[in-house]
Amino acid sequence: MSIAKIKGFSDLFSPESDTFTAIESLARTLFSQYGFTELRTPILEYTELFARSIGEETDVVHKEMYTLTTEKGRSYSLRPEATAGVMRAYIEGALYTKMPVARLFTTGPMFRHERPQKGRLRQFHQINCECLGSESPYADADMITMLMRFLTSLELGSLELALNSLGCSECRPRFKHALTDYLNNLPKDAFCEDCQRRIHTNPLRVLDCKQEQCQNNLTNAPTLADALCPACKEHFALVCSLLQSQGIHYVLAPRLVRGLDYYTRTTFEVQSAGIGSQSAIAGGGRYDGLIKALGGPDVPGIGFACGIERLALLLQNRPSKHPDFFLAVLDEANLPQGFTLLQSLRSHNLSGTMNFQGQSFKSLLRQADKTQATYCLILGSNEIQDHTITVKTMSDGTQTTVAQDALYAHLSAGNNHE
Ligand code: HAM
Repeated sequence: MSIAKIKGFSDLFSPESDTFTAIESLARTLFSQYGFTELRTPILEYTELFARSIGEETDVVHKEMYTLTTEKGRSYSLRPEATAGVMRAYIEGALYTKMPVARLFTTGPMFRHERPQKGRLRQFHQINCECLGSESPYADADMITMLMRFLTSLELGSLELALNSLGCSECRPRFKHALTDYLNNLPKDAFCEDCQRRIHTNPLRVLDCKQEQCQNNLTNAPTLADALCPACKEHFALVCSLLQSQGIHYVLAPRLVRGLDYYTRTTFEVQSAGIGSQSAIAGGGRYDGLIKALGGPDVPGIGFACGIERLALLLQNRPSKHPDFFLAVLDEANLPQGFTLLQSLRSHNLSGTMNFQGQSFKSLLRQADKTQATYCLILGSNEIQDHTITVKTMSDGTQTTVAQDALYAHLSAGNNHE
């Protein structure tokens, strides 16, 4: 019996893997314009790192981590997100002594044991950016502007940027208190089971519960916007006006809390209507106390992550790049000349493959068709004798004979017309 992959994990074949690569390479190019450098952190970290940063009571840490415990009792977890590992690396590598503001970009697989569905996997991939060392609202606006420029350049269709401020260590506890009082004054069964627990463990999370039943009970709940201290209000107002100055549209989302405990002040999420219920394609925010809470200096930070699978879902109808040629070598005896021509075509930046066995012309044409090559290049004994190649254009079946030394120019000219 063959062995299947694990539920919620996927194999990425072309063209999906090409889409992933294209998304990542666009991100690399664009983010480097904004001063980001790439950081690769381990996939496995001590469980404590995630518990202390994301929060013990969050769904991610409480229910969704893949954790293993060694015989000696050490607990490790597969990373459910990138931020915690980046913070650990920043502190451990003492980056704060080397650069006043560190801009770090990470990409790779993350693991969350959630119920799989369209756009929600147990192993998924994120592109993650963190800017550490600035508490300025300009840093928030710069990050959000970069994110929106990245998403816009992918041409994903209509997107909505939701924006909120979660306040700081001064104003948030006051808000939490007022909210808890409000929630406790309602009958317990007015809320879903999760929220009944959250009222005690993490009341802010009740605000962005997806259940209609819970949302209906929040109509008269106190709002974060009213509770912000003057410094948080000023910070948020400047972020909003900077985004407006750059023509970035957003909607204020006073109940956007996000599922991770480390956020302070600005939080944001980008939603797309084009991929069903798992519509958040990116999310992030500021986390000014996080580095200190993890044993580092008191350095502020802001970041975001995009889900590559969700971006790829929005891009899946794009035409993918096809190979330029399939080289059909007609006789086994001609394979050596064919092989030399194949390598030379590639060294001229053309893409394609050939058959490594002598096969019938019909079968080779079928192979050319399957690879979706633009041209089938036919090399038989006649062509070898005349130093020519027969070039068949696969889209219309037309055929011409070209001198071998004019082949690259011929194919490149054809490519340029597409
Ligand atoms: P997050 O909102 O948990 O934030 O995840 C960011 C993005 O990852 C989501 O918007 C979504 O596109 C994608 N994602 C999350 N879970 C799944 C899943 N199970 N399957 C497919 N895609 C998923 C964070 O992870 C924060 N660390 C972002 C951040 C960076 N905040 C500050 N810095």
